[in-house]
Amino acid sequence: MRIFVSISITQLNKGKVQDNTFKLPDSSFFKLARSSTFSIAIESTPFIHPTPNTLSQRDRLSKPKIKASNKPPQANGAWPIIGHLHKLSGTGLPHMTLGAMADQYGSAFTIQLGTKQALVVSSWKVAKECFTTNDRALASRPTHTTMALSRLPPIVSTGVKYTLLLGASDTTMVTLTWTLSLFLNNPHVFKKAQEELMAQVGNDQHVDESDIKNLVYLQAIIKETIRLYPPAPLSAPREAIEDGVVVGYHVPVGMRVIANLWKIQRDPSIWDDPLEFQPERFLTTYKGIDVWGQHYELIPFGYGRRSCPGIALALQVVQLILAQLLHGFELIRPSGAPVDMTESVGLTNVKVTLVEVLLAPRFPPQLYEA
Ligand code: HEM
Repeated sequence: MRIFVSISITQLNKGKVQDNTFKLPDSSFFKLARSSTFSIAIESTPFIHPTPNTLSQRDRLSKPKIKASNKPPQANGAWPIIGHLHKLSGTGLPHMTLGAMADQYGSAFTIQLGTKQALVVSSWKVAKECFTTNDRALASRPTHTTMALSRLPPIVSTGVKYTLLLGASDTTMVTLTWTLSLFLNNPHVFKKAQEELMAQVGNDQHVDESDIKNLVYLQAIIKETIRLYPPAPLSAPREAIEDGVVVGYHVPVGMRVIANLWKIQRDPSIWDDPLEFQPERFLTTYKGIDVWGQHYELIPFGYGRRSCPGIALALQVVQLILAQLLHGFELIRPSGAPVDMTESVGLTNVKVTLVEVLLAPRFPPQLYEA
């Protein structure tokens, strides 16, 4: 499967405004840079983020013997019938609302979503216990999600029927948008990434896929971006198909489990200066931590057997596009003002405002023709 990211270009060519849309990765985009500067806006392309249907019978566990007495704390403020849904559909962002609740009720508490209870997981320790010891028992997706989404067109891929999980949102596009915005607000990071590109690739050839493994600072930048702005801040819900115990609490069959990745990845007990954008941390203090679901402090792609199967593809696409952009162009803020980093409501963590950026070619025009 190929994923495309659309980039719209507004170019001033001899006083005339020209609009073009490119699908990245596409060499014609990089060939365009014949004039001095132009502005770009990254836009969402319909992207299908699928999830397989629930587990087959053979994946189910035999029932463990558990006492049902110890229930996780339930957040106050549930209304009849809808439970806590009113709290999640207000003006605040759900991951932030649930994050504030975690400060009050702890890193494992329940909310009522209509008739269903959901365990909200807000620390790496609880996440680890859910998705190691209890991974098989929690490896199902709620059927209502599947049913609600089944009205959307299904994709059939290698014999597995997928339904849409994150709608027409594009997690790859979201990652690119946040990274570009962070570059614009942190010119020193941008400069350092370009220096790495010059050292590893040079100025007489294009960035190739084989260069990516050497671009460790760029990889650190992407990790730090999806730490602070996980494209799916609340991981897709799981459903317990067996009774289980999580940090001493009874998790009954049918309970939803939602991990607040945004909260986990900003945990001040794990991360120094958790709200600061510091890609260097992944080259020093947090060097060994990757995003592949082994380190529960950083799980933007989820964890366990239902973790994201698109991780390698997503990382490859994001790394290559960013490397090519940074290598070929200077990024300039047209207004000079800092980029607004407000997040918006939705299943994916989309920025509220479009990123406006001027791209100035760094090399002579013939290099972009190659
Ligand atoms: C930056 C890009 C992406 C991010 C951050 C991301 C994140 C996630 C997360 C958090 C989950 C839920 C995992 C869990 O419950 O533990 C997930 C599931 C999934 N993702 Fe992604 N994803 C990305 C890109 C992709 C791509 C490119 C594809 C496919 C080409 C893809 C396919 C899927 C599928 C099929 C599932 C459902 C897996 C299952 O239910 O077993 N994702 N993703």
